[in-house]
Amino acid sequence: MLPFLALAGLAATTLASICQASPLDKAEALSDCLSKSGVPTDALGSEDWKLDASPYNLRLNFTPVGIAVPTTVKHIQDAVACAAKLGVKANAKCGGHSYASFGLGGEDGHLTIEMDRMNKVILNNATGIASVEGGSRLGHVAYELYNQGKRAFSHGTCPGVGVGGHALHGGFGMSSHTKGLALDWMVGATVVLANSTVVNCSATENPDLFWAVRGAGSSMGVVSEFRFNTFVVPEKVTYFVAAVQWPTEERALVGVQAVQEYAETMPVELNMRLFIQSRFVNLEGMWYGDKASLTAALAPLVKKTNATVQLSQEGGWLDQLKHFGNGVNLDQGHPYNYHETFYSSSVYTKALNETQLKAFVSYWFKVAKKNKRDWYVQIDLHGGNTSAVTKPAVDSTSYAHRDYLLMYLFNDRVDKGVAFPADGFGVTQNFIRNITDGMGRSNWGQYINYPDPNLDQATAQTNYWGGHLSKLQKIKASVDPEDVFHYPQGVVPV
Ligand SMILES: Cc1cc2nc3c(=O)[nH]c(=O)nc-3n(C[C@H](O)[C@H](O)[C@H](O)COP(=O)(O)OP(=O)(O)OC[C@H]3O[C@@H](n4cnc5c(N)ncnc54)[C@H](O)[C@@H]3O)c2cc1C
Ligand SMILES: *[C@@H]1O[C@H](CO)[C@@H](O)[C@H](O)[C@H]1NC(C)=O
Ligand SMILES: *[C@@H]1O[C@H](CO)[C@@H](O)[C@H](O)[C@H]1NC(C)=O
Ligand SMILES: *[C@@H]1O[C@H](CO)[C@@H](O)[C@H](O)[C@H]1NC(C)=O
Ligand SMILES: *[C@@H]1O[C@H](CO)[C@@H](O)[C@H](O)[C@H]1NC(C)=O
Ligand SMILES: *[C@@H]1O[C@H](CO)[C@@H](O)[C@H](O)[C@H]1NC(C)=O
Ligand SMILES: *[C@@H]1O[C@H](CO)[C@@H](O)[C@H](O)[C@H]1NC(C)=O
Ligand SMILES: *[C@@H]1O[C@H](CO)[C@@H](O)[C@H](O)[C@H]1NC(C)=O
Repeated sequence: MLPFLALAGLAATTLASICQASPLDKAEALSDCLSKSGVPTDALGSEDWKLDASPYNLRLNFTPVGIAVPTTVKHIQDAVACAAKLGVKANAKCGGHSYASFGLGGEDGHLTIEMDRMNKVILNNATGIASVEGGSRLGHVAYELYNQGKRAFSHGTCPGVGVGGHALHGGFGMSSHTKGLALDWMVGATVVLANSTVVNCSATENPDLFWAVRGAGSSMGVVSEFRFNTFVVPEKVTYFVAAVQWPTEERALVGVQAVQEYAETMPVELNMRLFIQSRFVNLEGMWYGDKASLTAALAPLVKKTNATVQLSQEGGWLDQLKHFGNGVNLDQGHPYNYHETFYSSSVYTKALNETQLKAFVSYWFKVAKKNKRDWYVQIDLHGGNTSAVTKPAVDSTSYAHRDYLLMYLFNDRVDKGVAFPADGFGVTQNFIRNITDGMGRSNWGQYINYPDPNLDQATAQTNYWGGHLSKLQKIKASVDPEDVFHYPQGVVPV
């Protein structure tokens, strides 16, 4: 028996070293490392693998080399250590709602660190500070904060969006003109760095890292937990939809001009966007107050744009969350299985001058309107002299775009799962070209949370982070010199 055992032991050792040396099987080496470290993973081909590997945007469906599913900070550390050791790029995935599927790395062959099993939300009712785990979805966070203390912070509208991607890069929603961006409410974060150490950051602890994670967090580390300040929710808000009918280019020009002029000084209580599709145009938003005061505040704009108020509904905090969440259940967790197939991009600008407005409206009426695909342009009234977004200094976080009045999202979609047409990029790209044509490079930007996957990395970094890029690249070099958390449009270490 003895010699046989000895022989078997030798064979196993030889086999293990052959496996480790083989470049053929990174997946196997990774899986081996994760398993030895006790990191939970999705088995290839399992139901969980299928769910976790499928991005919100089915157009950009990348295949990870492995999926780690941490439930503790130690699991995240060990997963990052395995990736770094094996030269595999690693990315956290929270809600999977990146338009470019950056939660999967934005290309094949990354380690996905699927965070969505870590979604505890604990409100300290005495301090108003909430601890939110880095895999929570926005609807779940809002639901918990409301139930635990009738509190909230401002953020976007879709319940399935992850707080991870959202709050690390901006986070603009139907409270933001009144209350600021999601990242403005962040007071601290616990981050697993590329060398797998855990650090906290806040205004007083690792302040450079704290600056960087509020605008470019995905490039800096994996956030296992956020700490957000919160506000007491208002008793009553009013959400509304007002349809506008602009049959001609001339009328649309006057209308859009009126909206942007109004945005410059509109009441801080108002949150609003202009939503344009080929067949209809709406003004939609939320007012911190009752219906009568909303009607009075909107009256000058209604007059100038000929808008018809179709819905003006008073309600409590949960009512507005459900309204803007399109009726989807708020409390989203795992499993989550909503998808679309689309291409999108974004722009920020100041108020458009007459030439720029004409170019925008002309492209819209002469070309885009004739395209019957389901495209839309959503123009959020982001800045202006009363907006809470413009209150913090431009350099106070790495979010680079506080000064811009307008934030445009362009989206062009086909039925879920249908192949996206080769000519499906034109409407969005021509809208953007017509708006920005001749504009000085420092007069517009783009939003990493509405990324354009067709940009090269250098252009993407400039457009997303503008004047903050070189500082971000230096911080990146100090926390992730080997670019472990690489993705095609992330901050590169310099
Ligand atoms: C239907 C829909 C509605 C939206 N509505 C809004 C809106 O109203 N307002 C708005 O501002 N945006 C909105 N967005 C955009 C959204 O904010 C971004 O797509 C956001 O990045 C999604 O975050 P996620 O965690 O769901 O995505 P993921 O794809 O999981 O992650 C996005 C990026 O963040 C990184 N990341 C995620 N979690 C962590 C973490 N814990 N630590 C470190 N890095 C992490 C990922 O690596 C990736 O780079 C919407 C998107 C969709 C699809
Ligand atoms: C938290 O505080 C709010 C208001 O201050 C109160 O209504 C609520 O009952 C408290 N919740 C808990 C769980 O203590
Ligand atoms: C980070 O802060 C949290 C909350 O204050 C604390 O529980 C944790 O121990 C801190 N971690 C580190 C690494 O300092
Ligand atoms: C509003 O309606 C009036 C009267 O029909 C019209 O003269 C004006 O051009 C319209 N304005 C817009 C922006 O549609
Ligand atoms: C603007 O749109 C027009 C069509 O209306 C198109 O011909 C033109 O090339 C676009 N301009 C730019 C700068 O892309
Ligand atoms: C905004 O601009 C208006 C008009 O110029 C001015 O009356 C108002 O005081 C300004 N508000 C703030 C907060 O700067
Ligand atoms: C508007 O801005 C463009 C640059 O986008 C510039 O070329 C043009 O002269 C400006 N027009 C007016 C009327 O100010
Ligand atoms: C990990 O990286 C951080 C940031 O660069 C550094 O401060 C820390 O000393 C490193 N820790 C180890 C154990 O190398």
